[in-house]
Amino acid sequence: MKKRTWIIMIGSLFLLATIGLAANPAPPKKTPQLLKEGGKVYEQVCASCHGSKGDGKGPAGAVLKPPPTDFQKPLKEWPNTKGDPQKVFEVISKGIPNSAMVAWTQYSEQQRWALVYRVMDFSRAMAKGK
Ligand code: HEC
Repeated sequence: MKKRTWIIMIGSLFLLATIGLAANPAPPKKTPQLLKEGGKVYEQVCASCHGSKGDGKGPAGAVLKPPPTDFQKPLKEWPNTKGDPQKVFEVISKGIPNSAMVAWTQYSEQQRWALVYRVMDFSRAMAKGK
């Protein structure tokens, strides 16, 4: 192969890598405003199963099997995500098969991150004894 062909090929690889990175952007910053927004959506739609306090005891959650995750538990005891923010985001975006946890793609990526921060704060607040 000609040298120029190589240069073009390697160049395209770099380009693809850059595009790949751009497709998976870093999470938005955890600002008070974002947390507030997450709290609002949480109260409206998530609390019915996961409970207003995040304890998994929402009125609609009581009869579910598997039960809604108790967000007050230490993060590493969360059964599906072990409290890894990227995985929490994935669960909120894609749902959990064979459970009542569905995908919440009607919310923007920004709002889903707001929810990630909201639910993880339940656990952090517990750990701090608040
Ligand atoms: C209809 C009931 C229901 C609603 C509403 C609901 N969830 Fe869930 N969710 C569940 C159940 C049930 C599980 C556990 C599934 C399992 O363990 O297989 C779960 C699990 C999760 C988990 C996984 C945590 C872990 O590691 O175990 C996250 C994160 C989560 N929900 C976030 C949310 C958010 C955010 C909302 C609101 C947008 C929401 N859920 C609304 C029922 C619900």
